[in-house]
Formats: sequence, C-alpha cells, structure tokens
Amino acid sequence: MSEPRSWSPPAHPPTDPDRIPALNGSHLFAAGRHASEAEGVRAFLSITAPASLEIGFDHGMCLLDRARLWPETLQLGIEIREARVAALPSLPSNCRAWRADARAALATVIPPGRISTIYVLFPDPIWNDTVRARRLLFSPAFVALCARALTPTGCLHLATDIKAYFEWAGRLLSAWQPTALPELGRELSRRERVCSRDGINIHRGTWQRPACP
Ligand SMILES: C[S@@+](CC[C@H](N)C(=O)[O-])C[C@H]1O[C@@H](n2cnc3c(N)ncnc32)[C@H](O)[C@@H]1O
Repeated sequence: MSEPRSWSPPAHPPTDPDRIPALNGSHLFAAGRHASEAEGVRAFLSITAPASLEIGFDHGMCLLDRARLWPETLQLGIEIREARVAALPSLPSNCRAWRADARAALATVIPPGRISTIYVLFPDPIWNDTVRARRLLFSPAFVALCARALTPTGCLHLATDIKAYFEWAGRLLSAWQPTALPELGRELSRRERVCSRDGINIHRGTWQRPACP
C-alpha cells in the first residue's frame, strides 16, 4: 500500500552527540527529582544482567511483554510523554520505565557499552518542517549516542512504516553491520497493530554497532 505523505529528512540534523538540542534539558538530571530518577536508572542498570532499551514505548505493551517473557534480562523503556509513563500498570522488577528525552538520557545517564539491544519502534516522523531537525529522533548525533550505549556486539532495531525515514536511518547507519532481527516478543506495538489492520507496509532493520563507535 502506498504511503499517504512524502517525508524528507532535515537539511541540517544535529551531528555532534554532545550538542544535540535535547541536551538543553540534560542539566535536569543533575538536580532534584530528575537527579534521583537518573540515579535510579543507573542503579537499575548496575544489576548484572543483559539490558535492552526501548525508546518511545508509548503504551508499553512491547516493553512489558519482553520483561515478562525474559525475566533474566533488564528492560528499560524511555518515553518522553509523562502521561504514558504514568499510565503503565505495575512493572515487574526487571522492568523500568523512565520519562525522559532518550537523546539526553543516552548522552548523560546510560553507561557506555551497557545496552545489548535498542528497540526503536515507529519513531515519530515529525511532519512539521520547522521543528523536524530539533525533534527528530534519528540524526547522526543520535546514532553516535546509540553506538556509545551499546555493548560491542549490541544492535539497534528499527521499525517504521515511513519508507523514506527507513532509508534515512539506513544511510545514517551505513557504517554499522546489518544483522538478524532480535527477538521481538509476542506483542505488537500500537502502531504496528494499526499497520497490520490497515495493510500498511512495515520496514524493519537491525544493525550491529561498528567496532569503533
Ligand atoms: C509514533 S509513536 C510510536 C509509539 C510505539 N513505539 C508504537 O510503535 O506504537 C513515537 C513515540 O516516541 C515517543 N518519543 C518521541 N520522541 C522521543 C524522545 N526523544 N525520547 C523518548 N520518547 C520519544 C513519543 O512520545 C511516542 O510515544
């Protein structure tokens, strides 16, 4: 089925992982409630177990499903919308949901080399041209942050129904090694359900981190 709108990447996406727009808010993690949340995430990730990260989990079905399915792993979810985090049911002890901008979290809180798999399921395409460069998740800077967070054999999994977004991400990840899909669990994300219901094509890829990120 054809896609409803054309999408193009921003002309000037952020390239420096330490100077992405989201970092304007990263000082939040240094004080008060946000500092204790960040400390809680660091403590969670200090548990000896493989850890996965889902960015933009929305209703959290996939996050929760993976946590229940693989209790020997840690499943961290980061979601920018507070209401989504607040609406989650109680989570098993191997699962943690954090309200934060994933880019700032990756830059300042997630320990380098800690995450085995990063799941990005149907990232917002940001149709508004004026804010796309600032808000779009995928950029050269974001890819560098993911590489830094992943273990040496760690991988990033992307699903999207926007073909041009998938191609853009593929170009950003051209130094990475395409690899097999990670285990995805039993649940479909909300957007994936819509795509499946409406017969919309899904583009999926998994890439392993380059040797020297
Ligand atoms: C299009 S929705 C997809 C939600 C879900 N993954 C799915 O497949 O149905 C994108 C999600 O990413 C979240 N998001 C967008 N930018 C984010 C960021 N910088 N950090 C964390 N979450 C973000 C949005 O709030 C939203 O829940």
